Amino acid sequence: MSNTKRNVALSLLLGAAIAATADDGSSLWLRKPAPDPSIVQTESQISDTLRITFAELASFKSNSVEVMENKHRTDLGDDGFEILMDGDKVKIIAQREIGLLYGAYYLLRHQACGTQITDNFAAKEVPYYKYRMLNHWDNLDGTVERGYAGNSIWKWDELPETVSPRYVEYARANASIGINATVLNNVNASPKMLETANLKKVKAIADVLRPYGIRVFLSVNFASPMVIGGLKDADPQKPEVLAWWRAKAKEIYDLVPDFGGFLVKANSEGQPGPCDYGRTHADGANVLADALKPYGGVVIWRAFVYGRKSEERVQQALLEFQPLQGKFRDNVIVQAKNGPLDFQPCEPFHPMFGKITGIPLAIELQITQEYLGQSNHLAYLGTLWKEVLDSDTYQNGPGSTVAKKIRESGMIAGVANIGDDVNWCRHPFAQANWYAFGRLAWNPNLKAEDIAREWLAQTFTSNPAFVDPVCDMMMSSVPAIRQYMMPLGLAHIFASTLGNHYGPGPWLYQTGNDSFLQYASLLSTNDNVPTRKVFDATATELGADRTKKGTGTVMQYNAPLCDEYDDINTCPERYWLWFHRLQWDQKMPTGDTFWEHLCGQFESGAKTAATYPGIWESVKMYVDPERYDLVLGRLKLQAREAVWWKDACILFYQSVNNLPLPKGITPPIYDLNKLKRIQFPSNVHFCPSPADVNKALDGALK
Ligand code: GCU
Repeated sequence: MSNTKRNVALSLLLGAAIAATADDGSSLWLRKPAPDPSIVQTESQISDTLRITFAELASFKSNSVEVMENKHRTDLGDDGFEILMDGDKVKIIAQREIGLLYGAYYLLRHQACGTQITDNFAAKEVPYYKYRMLNHWDNLDGTVERGYAGNSIWKWDELPETVSPRYVEYARANASIGINATVLNNVNASPKMLETANLKKVKAIADVLRPYGIRVFLSVNFASPMVIGGLKDADPQKPEVLAWWRAKAKEIYDLVPDFGGFLVKANSEGQPGPCDYGRTHADGANVLADALKPYGGVVIWRAFVYGRKSEERVQQALLEFQPLQGKFRDNVIVQAKNGPLDFQPCEPFHPMFGKITGIPLAIELQITQEYLGQSNHLAYLGTLWKEVLDSDTYQNGPGSTVAKKIRESGMIAGVANIGDDVNWCRHPFAQANWYAFGRLAWNPNLKAEDIAREWLAQTFTSNPAFVDPVCDMMMSSVPAIRQYMMPLGLAHIFASTLGNHYGPGPWLYQTGNDSFLQYASLLSTNDNVPTRKVFDATATELGADRTKKGTGTVMQYNAPLCDEYDDINTCPERYWLWFHRLQWDQKMPTGDTFWEHLCGQFESGAKTAATYPGIWESVKMYVDPERYDLVLGRLKLQAREAVWWKDACILFYQSVNNLPLPKGITPPIYDLNKLKRIQFPSNVHFCPSPADVNKALDGALK
């Protein structure tokens, strides 16, 4: 019987616990730096995880706390906990120590949110998913792909000798919201990641993260056996290739015994993969899976593939993976993005979640705001993610939500928005997305609004005079962005394709510009059939025809969605242009013409964004000056950019349809030709600074 009960007398060195914090946002929602675990003095030897738990609990003021590890509480799973009152003492019970740490953070969250710990205070929490994972798109040279908060937090050139204290803060922040897995490097992976010298650095990071319950994973380049292993090729059917991966796996596990596994982007956007040798994605994934199997590691194989020309881009992943059902090893998980295109402000859920059987699927969300204003806009993604997780795929009848589907793999991943900026995410409100991702990964049934409220209460103040208006602003942000950027299911009309994805460029996605159209899944070509245009903006119409009569993409969704999406009268408004080509003068179910309705959307989004600076000014008294100013400057820019998007799109569409500006729409202040000339560096690592954007917009005024 290994039922252990540990009572550890907490004896804390007074004053050593917490230094006063400047309000630079560096301590996130925790508001205080990590306490030093060595302040905990115990009668017996305890693990680092327990030591951290006690050090954290020193900040819990209202009651004394007892922790109890009980190996028989299998109902709590690996990571769950129960909290009970025993007189005025609070008891945390868990099957494993990490559950006790999660229980401690639960108490601290409630304390920060102002919950009264009464006699009948009780909780039992078991996370919904096994793997709650961040995907860093960080490169060995210190840059971060689609990273908008500075350079990578991983200081590869200093490791393993110098281990930044920030790794502890990172681990702690993640543990406080239940994140338990992290992929350290970019899916566009350098083969060098697997070199021995780099693996030693990975070990140093893994050692810091382990006591916080976080397992490390790596993105791997499929051609590694060739590039760093000296083999002739990386054909997964060749014994020497399998042998190379096996030896590499052994080397990794010797250094990092709890290593999680590999994430692979293969045969996608120029990355090497098994198809280079005429093999399938399953062949490729299985060779890695076999190498990791003896150690309990998993392969996460990405479904973000769109190399073929025969179908439009959004259909390809399902078509490519459907024939592979049942062909993957049992330690392979296939990871699909939330939607079939690419993290757009508004996409229907990925059809794979409703159609695939026999392959455990993980979902990949994007925390970094590549297509949602990057680090300049406030976009609270909790609402967007809830919409996807709650979507009903009808795979097994009504109630087959995406959230339930991914339980088959137990994996939810988010592309991190973390960098080496002092406040981690640059925009103070981008921290809310890191937080919300963790909370939804723990429990996808939480409400987006509740998460926003608890984040605000912890990060700023729990005073309702602050929380209420600011929470409303957060909740309205993604709907507003959708309206002012890409309303009614418009997608990918950014000013560049593979470059910076910043600013409007609807004029680029037109006949003759086929590479843009293809990239944005707005064109499909087939060698035997003439090019079919999916999307167009012409004198008479706008939108993408993905109906049964068009590209047939609606057929990738189960009944009744397929018919619902196919009929404009039942298609949700937010997907109108995703699935339909609409006539400008068409009467919409809403009573107005399509042109009037579209312009009304841009106008409404811009109007909402225009209210944000005032809302923030009205809560000035509750916020420290540093974060107040940072947020205010960005909200003003956001309001201005909303007008930029509105004017650019309305003026451009007017130039093709020659229609007058509908009544009630604010006349454009920018000049279309000048807007077309705005250009920011085509760089996947940076977001243009507010100063640069303001300067560009000043120059584009009429
Ligand atoms: C997007 C993004 C790329 C990224 C890719 C991926 O296309 O712009 O930078 O590499 O997604 O998810 O692999």
